[in-house]
Amino acid sequence: MTEQEPIYRGKAKSVFRSDNPDELIVKFRDDITAFDGAKKDELAEKGIYNARVSAYLFEYLRANGVPSHFVRMEDERTMIVRPLKMIPVEVIVRNIAAGSLVRNYPFEEGAPLDPPVIVLDYKDDARHDPMINEEIIVALGLMTADEIASVKKTALRINDLLRERIDEIGLDLVDFKLEFGRHGDEILLGDEISMDSMRLWDKKTRTSMDKDVYRFDKGDVMATYAAVAERLTGA
Ligand code: C5P
Repeated sequence: MTEQEPIYRGKAKSVFRSDNPDELIVKFRDDITAFDGAKKDELAEKGIYNARVSAYLFEYLRANGVPSHFVRMEDERTMIVRPLKMIPVEVIVRNIAAGSLVRNYPFEEGAPLDPPVIVLDYKDDARHDPMINEEIIVALGLMTADEIASVKKTALRINDLLRERIDEIGLDLVDFKLEFGRHGDEILLGDEISMDSMRLWDKKTRTSMDKDVYRFDKGDVMATYAAVAERLTGA
């Protein structure tokens, strides 16, 4: 498999073509950013931990009937995926009030949300990822109403599966973000599921075990990422 210039360079991952037209190469870099890229650093091996956790969770979801773009790992930071035409909508599932939900609405941090709350954001750094609703998504031609309903159903199923597994390692899945894309006629889960895209709290101490450690200088980011990867995947 040959690599050239990335066809897409995101804030933490780069995407390359491969020799197979139905496979792309995703490299998890060590870059970490927050606040729409306003805060950024490079943390050695961060990409490896996120790739490991993402691959583990994509495989776990696949084993439980939820397909994604994930095909296989090539090396410790390189994932082979199906090419998707990404839909610029972030699908956020929240089980506990935190982050922007607490900043923007009168929720108390830590309040349980039952049933879980789904928030849809329009993915656009320049616009600071504004919240979007179903009518705007349809009006922009991003998804049909039926597709939105199906994506939300999938997101809730993923929530049930992730919560169950993350509960077993002594963490609460506070919230997480998913991205979806088109592959032929199908809409598939894409992007990553990692400590960058989930909010995880230790059940006993309520301490953050995710990117909030970086965002708010709460401690040793890499020790935190390594601990989650180890608890989840055993490596
Ligand atoms: O910032 P907010 O509270 O809306 O984030 C909700 C969840 O979505 C968090 O787990 C956060 O890490 C994730 N997220 C993300 N990428 C974004 C925005 C949020 O992974 N652009």
